[in-house]
Amino acid sequence: MAAQPTPEDKFSFGLWTVGWNAQDQFGSASRPALDPVESVHRLAELGAAHVTFHDDDVVPFGSSDAERDKILDRFRGALAETGITVEMVTTNTFSHPIFKDGAFTSNDRRVRRYGLRKVVRNVDLAASLGADTFVMWGGREGAEYDSAKDLNAAHDRYAEGIDTVAAYIKEKGYGLRIAIEPKPNEPRGDILLPTIGHALALIAKLEHGDIVGLNPEVGHEQMAGLNYTQGIAQALWAGKLFHIDLNGQKSIKYDQDLVFGHGDLFSAFATVDLIENGFPSGGPRYDGPRHFDYKPSRTEDMQGVWDSAAANMSTYLLLKERAQAFRADPEVQAALEESGVLELAQPTLAEGETLSDLLADRSVFEDLDVDAVAARGFGFVRLNQLALEHAIGAR
Ligand code: GCO
Ligand code: MN
Ligand code: MN
Repeated sequence: MAAQPTPEDKFSFGLWTVGWNAQDQFGSASRPALDPVESVHRLAELGAAHVTFHDDDVVPFGSSDAERDKILDRFRGALAETGITVEMVTTNTFSHPIFKDGAFTSNDRRVRRYGLRKVVRNVDLAASLGADTFVMWGGREGAEYDSAKDLNAAHDRYAEGIDTVAAYIKEKGYGLRIAIEPKPNEPRGDILLPTIGHALALIAKLEHGDIVGLNPEVGHEQMAGLNYTQGIAQALWAGKLFHIDLNGQKSIKYDQDLVFGHGDLFSAFATVDLIENGFPSGGPRYDGPRHFDYKPSRTEDMQGVWDSAAANMSTYLLLKERAQAFRADPEVQAALEESGVLELAQPTLAEGETLSDLLADRSVFEDLDVDAVAARGFGFVRLNQLALEHAIGAR
């Protein structure tokens, strides 16, 4: 049995997750629409600390200003009653047909200008609700056909859009940071900034890249056949892991958005181990919300919705317990030592040593018994088996 989640666990849910009515490409909704106010109450009861949302999740697209104010007042009331806070806000620039060719990178300049206005309006809302993070998932920024986009111009426009919003955040003095969410495909055939690495490369070219980082999602990296833990590790190393979207995915296929751990469980163990315990020899840590971006499967009724929300948190807490036991195990410590995992933190050149010193050191090269060094076994399999035994609670 997992521990009961509490707000100290920093669990966070998108309102679009539990609120998904399960309409998909092949069938109509299998559940009624959920009132965001009810979701806030239910998530608070389950032990979550925060919620996140797209503008349109709370205020329906096309609402008048008066309707918008009324809806937001009621929503703020639910936050005040439950103690739930809004840690992240994101913009829906993908549902309405106006965004069918993207927002920041649509070929139609009118759409780009409209999209920018929608995003900036939402930045104001995010700041007024005290959010720390503003996620940008460019689901429609892409194409089905290579001839459909001037890809040089598309990257220029993407950078222009993000920089314009970042400059606005700074000008207003808002305590917000932008987090880009990569995804390789779906709904577009190919999406721009398909992986963590692509997004990091774009951020490095921005004028206001200091407040732009990443919101990597488990399933999105796995849809590209990539290792999520390795991806967030590089984002951490680069000082760019601003937020995370936890969920589950079974291999390279459509975006499943399963409950965290219901996809590649052993990979989820490694992710929790990194988030909770950090790198083996220290280094940057992730301290932000543990945010779930999943979809309760279409087979589930409302009870199933809340059971699945709770399942995300239980799985996380169970893996956290296992990961802590893994690190505390003296046998694991010895295995880490033996396998050289801790040795990797030692700089390759000694302090003060230059490349010339290395070139002059015959013991490094000319006199090295290469075959003797090559004979070393690293014991990674044994280490991995120890991890597995901890992960499944066999130790
Ligand atoms: C997806 C994405 C979205 C985004 C969300 C934030 O499933 O393709 O994860 O859910 O995270 O829209 O903008
Ligand atoms: Mn997803
Ligand atoms: Mn996501």
